[in-house]
Amino acid sequence: MRLTKTRLLFSLAGSSLAYPKREASAGPDAQKAQAIKETYQRSWKGYYDHAFPNDTLTPLTNSYVNDRNRWSVTAIDALSASIVLRDEESVNQILEFVPTIDFTTTAEPGDISLFETNIRYFGGLLSAYDLLSQEPWSDLVKNHTHIEACLKQAQSLADSLKFAFDTPSGIPDPIIQLNPEPKRKGSTQNNIAEAGTLVLEWTRLSDITGDPQYAELAQKAESYMLKPSPPETEPFPGLTGTFLSIEDGTFVNDDGGWGGYTDSFYEYLIKMYLYDPEEFGFYKDRWTAAADSTMEFLSSHPSTREDITFLSQYAGTDIIPTSSHLASFAGGNFILGGILLKEQKYIDFGLTLANSYYETYRGTATGIGPEGFRWVDNNLPTNSTNNPQPPSEDAEFYKKAGFWATSTAYILRPETLETLYYAYRATGDKKYQDMAWEAYENIVAAAETGAAFSSLRDVTIVDGGYIDKMESFWLTETLKYLFLMFDEESELQVQKDGSKMRWVFNTEAHPVKIR
Ligand SMILES: *[C@@H]1O[C@H](CO)[C@@H](O)[C@H](O)[C@H]1NC(C)=O
Ligand SMILES: *[C@@H]1O[C@H](CO)[C@@H](O)[C@H](O)[C@H]1NC(C)=O
Ligand SMILES: *[C@@H]1O[C@H](CO)[C@@H](O)[C@H](O)[C@H]1NC(C)=O
Repeated sequence: MRLTKTRLLFSLAGSSLAYPKREASAGPDAQKAQAIKETYQRSWKGYYDHAFPNDTLTPLTNSYVNDRNRWSVTAIDALSASIVLRDEESVNQILEFVPTIDFTTTAEPGDISLFETNIRYFGGLLSAYDLLSQEPWSDLVKNHTHIEACLKQAQSLADSLKFAFDTPSGIPDPIIQLNPEPKRKGSTQNNIAEAGTLVLEWTRLSDITGDPQYAELAQKAESYMLKPSPPETEPFPGLTGTFLSIEDGTFVNDDGGWGGYTDSFYEYLIKMYLYDPEEFGFYKDRWTAAADSTMEFLSSHPSTREDITFLSQYAGTDIIPTSSHLASFAGGNFILGGILLKEQKYIDFGLTLANSYYETYRGTATGIGPEGFRWVDNNLPTNSTNNPQPPSEDAEFYKKAGFWATSTAYILRPETLETLYYAYRATGDKKYQDMAWEAYENIVAAAETGAAFSSLRDVTIVDGGYIDKMESFWLTETLKYLFLMFDEESELQVQKDGSKMRWVFNTEAHPVKIR
């Protein structure tokens, strides 16, 4: 409560307060927000000068790759960030380009990921439409016909993609092609992340257009994940297997957790409840079941650092102490659930995860967390294949840090910072701003190259080399969550009082207006 009042005071005082006086208190920080915005502008310019309208900048060589079907993924994914960061120049550069994209085909034959296309392109266009349809964001736009173009193009893209759902079960094929003609890949399975991270965007398009077909397709697919069959593929209440049969919608395994291939299915359960608590009450029940089981069964403490709580993976009811940078979003999702359901236990557990996963940043030489890591859990059978001791070269590191890296890269991902954002918004505690700022400075120091910022090969050592790529989520997720943590109050910000929330962030951090 005390900190909420402080924050209010600062937002009233506005930018007239000198920076040094603010240092001890939480609240908006115009100077830090501006620094993050400049990093955003530098990243955008690097892409715009050397890669646009191709998909992705390769910042070491100042060149590009077309890795997302050459519809200009970095531009479309970045659009909502340009809007939120109020970068008028890039907003209009991207908007001018939007009407020129042909979403009915691809420039070259090739596979299209339904999931990636949905979260980056489709979510990006819908979000831009929602944001630019109202003040203050509409003021950024020079040519207002481009706002309607965002919606038109989102619908054109959905119309191109929708035959992916034309399977025996209605669970979509994860991969389709449009060139030389529309064709499903013919996959026999999909996973709960790729099939269960469509429902927000497709429901939103139906609500805006008044055409129910999009919501119906995505919700039908979701139905198999909400009521899993056979029963043994839900080893803990609410926590399911990973892969589903496209033929009949049954689960084909009982492995899972909060990492890749499953993560955003759980994320969207509570986000659909935020979108419309009446219609999606059952989604909330499933999230609550998953959250309770996660706290009871997956919560794990490293043998050398009992103060840390990570989330294990599972194979059936066997617990496997391993996790990932991706899974570090879970803390934020628990905090969001706690805010919406007014359940302090979820907020507290989310804060525990926020602090714990940040330890994977604190532990390394670069101050940045690795892509994958393990630990030993003394409450599990020791020396089993699921719970091995660290390799001898990692033993010293593990003793201090409480984890060791199994995959050392950092590809400019947002999840740990995303969770710190939720932690800050829920508590108003400046320590989360400080943690995020420290991570930001470390990332910029390690990843800055000539024209922009590059992925890193090995965060466990200083100067561990680069992977020549700047993923679009660096602009739209990592820098957007960082910026919002220091930006002033607005209706976009996550609110401590869930009843005041008006926007929901898709899994790519695109804000979508709730129903
Ligand atoms: C990719 O970007 C380069 C450099 O801006 C440009 O010349 C080229 O036309 C682009 N390629 C495609 C396929 O759009
Ligand atoms: C606005 O954009 C549309 C579509 O690209 C274009 O036809 C029109 O000429 C533009 N209007 C102005 C005033 O530039
Ligand atoms: C586990 O294995 C390691 C290495 O093989 C050995 O040093 C250690 O004593 C074993 N611990 C237990 C509890 O069996």
